Amino acid sequence: MHKNGLQVAIDGPASAGKSTVAKLVAKQFGYIYCDTGAMYRAITLKAIRAGISLDNDSEISKIAKTTSITFAPDQGGQKVFIDGQEITEAIRQEDVTNSVSAVAAIGEVRQELSAQQQSIAKDGGIVMDGRDIGTAVLPKAEVKIFLIASVAERAQRRYKENIQKGINTPLDELQLEIEARDYKDSHRKISPLTKAKDAVEIDTTSLSIQQVVSEIAKVINQKLNAN
Ligand code: DC
Repeated sequence: MHKNGLQVAIDGPASAGKSTVAKLVAKQFGYIYCDTGAMYRAITLKAIRAGISLDNDSEISKIAKTTSITFAPDQGGQKVFIDGQEITEAIRQEDVTNSVSAVAAIGEVRQELSAQQQSIAKDGGIVMDGRDIGTAVLPKAEVKIFLIASVAERAQRRYKENIQKGINTPLDELQLEIEARDYKDSHRKISPLTKAKDAVEIDTTSLSIQQVVSEIAKVINQKLNAN
């Protein structure tokens, strides 16, 4: 066990419910929550705003190395900042969502953000969600969870989230976007989305948020009781 508690890694494909449950699990155990997807999104947003082409690896790597990404707790959620400027909403827009896989495939960007994530997690007491946390960022995490859900269910969840935000993308388009992102995230050369050998897989397709949180809490409590 680390100084402040366990390292809990939650990985899985887009819209499998990782961030929703990770936040609740963190709250239940009094742990920090870190959304690593938000970090890749932040770099993508900065590159788009600067008019940098998404295939310009060296310029985007420069951004990753020189940008300060910070988080601040907010009621039930988390605010995200780049260089002190709030970008919580901006990084959820469709242009960022559809471009972020390209940025996340750049080796130097991954190296930089992984190092920052390792530093954030070093004392434990943390729930970190992403694609490569259990396999690459925190290979020694005491708890590793791999969340999956059917593509149809994930598209439906994204659709409902979008409607709440006033975005009206058709369901079949969202399904295609999710499939495309799954493909890119699982087929990139560096740290592709894969389940760690020692991860516990949970299929969330027909589970409620609370049921998923309870399953994960069970795994954490088993580890805590064993220590
Ligand atoms: O979880 P999300 O949709 O916010 O993640 C955004 C993108 O970032 C996703 O397409 C994959 C990438 N990502 C990654 O490659 N590694 C992580 N640890 C987290 C996210």
